[in-house]
Amino acid sequence: MAEALLDLRHTPKELAYAQLHAYALQLLAGIDDDIAGMATMSALVHHSLGHLWTGFYRVVQADLLRVGPYQGTVGCLDIRVGQGVCGTAAAERRTVIVPDVRRYPGHITCDARARSEIVVPVMDARDSLIAVFDIDSAKTGTFDQQDADGLGRMLTWFAGVGRG
Ligand code: SME
Repeated sequence: MAEALLDLRHTPKELAYAQLHAYALQLLAGIDDDIAGMATMSALVHHSLGHLWTGFYRVVQADLLRVGPYQGTVGCLDIRVGQGVCGTAAAERRTVIVPDVRRYPGHITCDARARSEIVVPVMDARDSLIAVFDIDSAKTGTFDQQDADGLGRMLTWFAGVGRG
């Protein structure tokens, strides 16, 4: 497979996420494997949008997230549910957008260059939380509701939408 990499860094967000979603569904056609989905979406989003860190933390115990497939510098391995941005998104099952991580009490720093962050919960077909999808940007204020909506739509793949 010799797929062309998308460069969506200068594309309006709504269009960029529509393209990413379509491309993810195309790449994952016939694949029924969460780890393959996580690896593919991490690589696709990270390189298309030029982020600092892009990847998944998986729910491995009721109170513990462990790093999953990702792109970027070495990530923290374990995060307690309720701690940091990822643990808060997991505990509250909601997307958390942090415009400036230096103003977020409890932010867990894995890469000192990180300035803003978004974490989106990932649900399975039974609406159980299986992971969170975390993106770090080197710039403040990178993420807004359009990112939350676009990523949320793509991540419905883990609940079975467009899968199989
Ligand atoms: N900043 C995250 C930790 C994960 S790294 O960004 C990869 C947090 O506060 O949960």
